[in-house]
Amino acid sequence: MIRICENHLRPFVKEHELEQLATQLAVAFDNLVEKKGPGNDFLGWVDLPVDYDQEEFERIKIAANKIREQSDVLLVIGIGGSYLGARAVIDALSPSFPNNGQELEVIFAGHQMSGDYLIDLMKYIEDKDVSLNVISKSGTTTEPAIAFRILREFMDQKYGVDAQDRIFITTDKARGALKELANQVGYETFVVPDDVGGRYSVLTAVGLLPIAAAGISIDELMQGAVKQREKALNFNLEENDILRYAGWRNVLLRRNYPIEILVNYEPSLMFFNEWWKQLYGESEGKDGKGLFPAGVNFSSDLHSMGQFIQDGARNMFETVLDFKHTRNEISIPQDEQNLDELNYISGKTLQEVNRTALEGVMLAHEDGGTPTIRLEIEKLDTKHIGALIYFFEFACGISGHVLGVNPFDQPGVEDYKRNMFALLGKPGYEEVTKKLQERLNG
Ligand code: PA5
Repeated sequence: MIRICENHLRPFVKEHELEQLATQLAVAFDNLVEKKGPGNDFLGWVDLPVDYDQEEFERIKIAANKIREQSDVLLVIGIGGSYLGARAVIDALSPSFPNNGQELEVIFAGHQMSGDYLIDLMKYIEDKDVSLNVISKSGTTTEPAIAFRILREFMDQKYGVDAQDRIFITTDKARGALKELANQVGYETFVVPDDVGGRYSVLTAVGLLPIAAAGISIDELMQGAVKQREKALNFNLEENDILRYAGWRNVLLRRNYPIEILVNYEPSLMFFNEWWKQLYGESEGKDGKGLFPAGVNFSSDLHSMGQFIQDGARNMFETVLDFKHTRNEISIPQDEQNLDELNYISGKTLQEVNRTALEGVMLAHEDGGTPTIRLEIEKLDTKHIGALIYFFEFACGISGHVLGVNPFDQPGVEDYKRNMFALLGKPGYEEVTKKLQERLNG
């Protein structure tokens, strides 16, 4: 399904460096599989592909069909792990342009605090039929809470009491403001399991409801994850590409390559990069440690970031997503005049040319001093995206443990929240407000 190719990494590392990490990789593997070590109460995602609430899974499909029948647009409100997974999967697997209103359009909100965005959004959906899925594990995150307050009012004004049938809540099974509201009003709810953190939650209702509503088979997505999980659970450093990927990242970090760039060659994967960046950034960037996860979309970014990667500071390596086949194939036509001198590639598919570019870039970057880990994936389809999600989640858990951090918490995210609450005058923050204002005023 997914195969690691190390040919363009080899000139920069030695096999024994990976072997020397074998003990740490084994401990990390054991931590994940036996649910031990730091963050062990957030390991529900490890078994999720085979151990999930089947009754809820079926309810997700029913709700998704209902949403598709009654709506032109599904608004998905959430931030971070409560949004990026669904967006990554939907973008990766959907047509690049809206299908003349035939397909449900999924629009995301609550992932920033732009008033312009919300006003433009409400104008855009004014005459459309809308359903809404608000997603927040804690139920208290400011960005989605504000967007939901505004868009709930919009829904109530548009649909009156019938809005209740169009609003779906994904949150904690028992606690939080959203759960309480759902109980009061009678909205249908879905659960973020206690033992699954936001950025590992795409294969729960968090991701599955919007993904299913977008018309993507969540059965196939899970099947891909199941297959990848089987491979993940085989602890053999020579055969387990997830362990190798996790190990090599740590080898490269120790060799002073502190930046990892995820490279894709399909614009539909732009948000897959974003999902991956959050997964690795929030899981590993702590205690003064971590690889900085960056992302580029080639070949577009070869004309912007390409220069730096080829020739700038030598502190980065690339992980390239190499899909053998994309959703569609298109060939380059023969042209009698050949003014553009492209006849030498006529008859080739664009994906063949794209992959040739990929190979040329890897060789050039190798010459320029940038190592590449190439992940070869058979096809850009639902099963392989499911597999890739599991691949990166498992690798992230392993890699974080090898790095010596808790890959399942995010203490640093709280600091900006505290300051924002204090400066906005939230009750209980008076002391902090005073100190911050002194600092702001010099
Ligand atoms: O990965 C995480 O835990 C975070 O990115 C959260 O998903 C994000 O902060 C949103 O939190 P919540 O779902 O509680 O609104």
